[in-house]
Amino acid sequence: MSPTTQKILGSPAPAAPWKIYDDWPVPAPGQKDVLIKVIAAALNPADVGIQSATTQPPMIQGYPFIGGLDGAGIIEEVGAEVTSFAKGDKVLFPGGFEQNRATFKQYTVVPATNVAKIPENLSFEQAASVPLCLATVATGIWAHEPGAKSLEFPAPWEEEGLTKFNGKAAFISGGSSSVGQYAIQLAKLQGFSPIITTSSLKHTDYLKSLGATHVLDRSLPPAKLLAQLPELTAGQPIVYAYDAISAAETQHLAYDALAPGGGLVVTHPFSVEILAEREERDGGSKKVARPYASLQWPGNVRLGEELYARLTEWLEKGIVVPNRVEVLPNGLAGIPEGLERMKNNQVSGVKLIAHPQETV
Ligand SMILES: NC(=O)c1ccc[n+]([C@@H]2O[C@H](COP(=O)([O-])OP(=O)(O)OC[C@H]3O[C@@H](n4cnc5c(N)ncnc54)[C@H](OP(=O)(O)O)[C@@H]3O)[C@@H](O)[C@H]2O)c1
Repeated sequence: MSPTTQKILGSPAPAAPWKIYDDWPVPAPGQKDVLIKVIAAALNPADVGIQSATTQPPMIQGYPFIGGLDGAGIIEEVGAEVTSFAKGDKVLFPGGFEQNRATFKQYTVVPATNVAKIPENLSFEQAASVPLCLATVATGIWAHEPGAKSLEFPAPWEEEGLTKFNGKAAFISGGSSSVGQYAIQLAKLQGFSPIITTSSLKHTDYLKSLGATHVLDRSLPPAKLLAQLPELTAGQPIVYAYDAISAAETQHLAYDALAPGGGLVVTHPFSVEILAEREERDGGSKKVARPYASLQWPGNVRLGEELYARLTEWLEKGIVVPNRVEVLPNGLAGIPEGLERMKNNQVSGVKLIAHPQETV
């Protein structure tokens, strides 16, 4: 029997400090869902952004806002129509803004189509670093159902998905961020080369191990970074740019790096105004996509199913490598301090992970 109550971490009102709730109900899975005991939950910038908003953001339905967009754990119960998973399976999955789907909790409910088994070579903590940030990249480049916000590249399982971009140049700003690490890996999977990224140089070897061919010092002024590109690409146009950071300056940098006719993904979905004037002036010659990583977003649903059908194999074979992780102490109670470090830019090249079951 699953427990009926659990501990969660929630923010009771706009901008209110996080607090532990001791007796939050454990939800029952719907027919196509699974109920998961959350062993590891990853922290993300969106947790900080939504908790600190002074008015209720449109993507949450109410308070308390329960954080957590990434998880890994053990299946506790399966819905009546679920045949692909069984109680006891070790799995990874995206969380969500809905209270039932968040992962700063001890139990959560997830549609079975967004769940993948964790291969033997990965820990729960590594697995929890994958879902949201991998989906941020995948939805921005591969989704192409109605409503998708994407460059609509063919996915690796589609025609030309592994050949179309062979030898074409890509630029990724913020390669050491969690999203940036997956952007490098998926660019490599699609055959892009060279793959040029910006980062603190201390991450150079690691980012090269993921597939970057050149790592440029992110502290250089944009003009100095841009001046290096023609030599690194041997004069080839950069046809794909991914801005994993999406601050104003990194958006302008990535837009400048991109050749006319190319495509740019910006991870900040609500920042249209930053490039609007330039896009208009250029007559839309550079396509800009601003994705939502949710695999329940109408344009992303089919992609989510295709991706999760392959994810276990990709992780097992090292086609996708999880982020490096740092585990926080004190279960859910350790999360606020981790989020504070993220807010103060004190987290570099590592994903912070909490263990909800260790909450006292
Ligand atoms: N659209 C969506 O649905 C969606 C989903 C997930 C995330 N996002 C957004 O994507 C962005 C990245 O998220 P994340 O989780 O990957 O972040 P993160 O891992 O927490 O980012 C921290 C890293 O960013 C790097 N960085 C910071 N400023 C930089 C700059 N100006 N140039 C290059 N690198 C810089 C730091 O690099 P150094 O170590 O080199 O200093 C650090 O390693 C956030 O804005 C997040 O809100 C959007």
